[in-house]
Amino acid sequence: MKILIVGTGAREHALARSLSQDPAVTELHAAPGNPGIAAVATLHPVDQLDGEAVAALATRLGADLVVVGPEAPLVAGVSDAVRAAGIPVFGPSAAAAQLEGSKAFAKDVMSAAGVPTAEPRVVTEPGQIDAALDAFGAPYVVKDDGLAAGKGVVVTDDRDAAHAHAAECLAKPGGRVVVEDYLDGPEVSLFVLCDGSRVLPLVPAQDFKRVGDGDTGPNTGGMGAYSPLPWAPEELVAEVVAQVAQPTVDEMARRGTPFVGVLYCGLALTSSGTRVVEFNARFGDPETQVVLARLATPLAGVLHAAATGALDTVPPLRWRDEAAVTVVVAAHDYPAAPRTGDPITGLAEAEALPGVHVLHAGTRQDGDAVVSAGGRVLSVVGVGADLADARTAAYAGVDRIALAGSHHRTDIAARV
Ligand code: GLY
Repeated sequence: MKILIVGTGAREHALARSLSQDPAVTELHAAPGNPGIAAVATLHPVDQLDGEAVAALATRLGADLVVVGPEAPLVAGVSDAVRAAGIPVFGPSAAAAQLEGSKAFAKDVMSAAGVPTAEPRVVTEPGQIDAALDAFGAPYVVKDDGLAAGKGVVVTDDRDAAHAHAAECLAKPGGRVVVEDYLDGPEVSLFVLCDGSRVLPLVPAQDFKRVGDGDTGPNTGGMGAYSPLPWAPEELVAEVVAQVAQPTVDEMARRGTPFVGVLYCGLALTSSGTRVVEFNARFGDPETQVVLARLATPLAGVLHAAATGALDTVPPLRWRDEAAVTVVVAAHDYPAAPRTGDPITGLAEAEALPGVHVLHAGTRQDGDAVVSAGGRVLSVVGVGADLADARTAAYAGVDRIALAGSHHRTDIAARV
């Protein structure tokens, strides 16, 4: 199978790594990829937001499958362009990706499908902000309706900060804001593969969104993750499939916009039950790094089956009886104003450690050197017999890497 992966991050590197280990994959390509992905795939300097260019590349390569990683190309319609070229694509259409592209749309679908979530108020005018904040009280949860690269959600007890975020989102062209109740309880990410009508869950993971140890500081794209979750109820996956994923996929099909790809169910396990915090229309980053590290079933056939409406042909997924932890190494001053261009050393030394692999996120090749090129620079993954071993491996890997001014959390998976 010839596969083209679209994207540049550690999630795409994790996908590329898993696909490269699948004997069914004869050629692996990435557009545009990154220096880490270059070790397992051929890179093509194509704009990942340009659907026609991605479709033309996939056609020229004779790709049997295109896997679209990030949300921006999905919302921009890259999957539609590839599908129109007659090539199977793992990733929803632009219309179906609105589950992530518009929080108000996602709430509407959840309401129609009877999916448990916080009741929202959609605010479209600055004059409505106060009433919406008063309706729920602190802690205030204010979400930009549209894509905001991990900066769209503010959860705060500070009313002025909540108001300011709402006003800032509304000031954007077509800006809308969703204000909702705070959902108390531990958060879980569950990825559910969808083929338009059927669903196939992966294993749950937990993400660490705040920049600092002890969940302090601003939100980020994610500073680390682990899987499995020994504390999660055994019935969680079956419950989410029955109450969240299948009803959502059924509702999307009913609307004439079937969902094909991965439905990322961001969940809160509250005292009143499991609630959806958010949907995303793609694999989570960094959770994918730990989920795929545990998947024993070859990945290509599973993604191809989802892309071609054939998930019913996939045998039960097999999982390694191992744990995985990933720690994100972030650039100086991430997330405020990440510095780029700093040389990274120690990658080979980290990779040489047992149970450690290093996934590239914001990196670029500069001659013989690899330098930082984004906020989240690397995702160092440790795999071990249990979470303690996996955690030890991941941090041993992080310790081998040098990047001036970088920082990482020291408490990923510490409490479990
Ligand atoms: N880890 C959070 C996300 O992928 O959105």
